[in-house]
Amino acid sequence: MQYRLFGRTEWPISEIGFGMWGMGGWTGSDDAESLVALQRSVDQGCNFFDTAWAYGDGRSEKLLGALVRANPGKRLYTATKIPPKNRIWPSRREFTVDDCFPPDYIEEYVHRSLENLGLPSLDLIQFHTWEDQWLADDRWFAALDGLRRQGLIRAIGISINRWEAWNGVYAVKSGLIDAVQVIYNIFEQVPEDELFPACEKYEVAVIARVPFDEGTLTGGLTLNSRWPEGDWRNTYFVPENLKVSVEHAEALRPLVPAEMSMSQLALRFILNHPAVSTIIPGMRTTKHVDENIACSEAGPLPDDLYAEVRKHRWDRQPTKWSQ
Ligand SMILES: NC(=O)c1ccc[n+]([C@@H]2O[C@H](COP(=O)([O-])OP(=O)(O)OC[C@H]3O[C@@H](n4cnc5c(N)ncnc54)[C@H](OP(=O)(O)O)[C@@H]3O)[C@@H](O)[C@H]2O)c1
Repeated sequence: MQYRLFGRTEWPISEIGFGMWGMGGWTGSDDAESLVALQRSVDQGCNFFDTAWAYGDGRSEKLLGALVRANPGKRLYTATKIPPKNRIWPSRREFTVDDCFPPDYIEEYVHRSLENLGLPSLDLIQFHTWEDQWLADDRWFAALDGLRRQGLIRAIGISINRWEAWNGVYAVKSGLIDAVQVIYNIFEQVPEDELFPACEKYEVAVIARVPFDEGTLTGGLTLNSRWPEGDWRNTYFVPENLKVSVEHAEALRPLVPAEMSMSQLALRFILNHPAVSTIIPGMRTTKHVDENIACSEAGPLPDDLYAEVRKHRWDRQPTKWSQ
């Protein structure tokens, strides 16, 4: 495993981190299997784990706490998120700090997450939604800074709404935050335009999330893909999205070299960008952990392939099903 510095914190973070949403709530999750997958990742050098209170109302956070306690000799970095008080994803322009992250609520949820984790402190606290206009009402920062001074959290981050990379650039430039979490993958290259240059200039860490576009970039989707009732993916891969997603993945397929899977092409593509501190694929099986972590040693894509893959940029706008 290769490591990169996590922005101004200078934590040495594994290039392949671990996204823990699926194991908190997607259908088919099994806690015993998830813990085996998590431990397998630690054994191969993964040291960054992204969870959220909302991932199973604490279920995923509890798995992370168990993992940390099972590895007392290893420095594992814990990142979690406070859900917006109004529980509405994605955020909308008219939402205020009082609607989503009032100070007393921030404090309450940091304590709730610490309780779920069963740890005295956590490394990175993130807002699970974000509006750049909240910079004008910095009560949220005062609350988080107070918690940092108490030693309960070490760094502050935001998670930017899907396909709104622009809606975080001012936060980066404000100097108030240490990390941004943003969708960045072969399709969604918009963060390269404004967000990443700002992150590099202000030494803000970048967590690249949803590297497989929720599954499209594993190459495993077909026009007949369906998930069990209650699985979140049924609401994202609505017919209108599934069709174009499959078309875009199939257009990419001829570029996948024989010795690589499309998933590996997707992860290695992201490694090419120096602004990225870590990638957090969602993964619940040791097979996926092994395949994904191997990408770090394989390294970024060679220049000629990278140039071809870049042409598959697909700019999208938030819509009613994109969440
Ligand atoms: N608003 C937010 O802040 C927000 C929103 C979305 C995601 N996130 C974070 O980002 C993380 C990643 O996003 P995501 O999990 O939604 O989507 P993703 O990483 O794009 O895709 C996850 C899917 O890819 C599959 N997969 C993983 N490795 C694979 C491989 N090598 N071959 C084939 N399939 C593979 C997973 O299967 P298995 O699960 O069965 O292994 C899962 O179905 C989340 O877990 C979460 O931590 C944050």
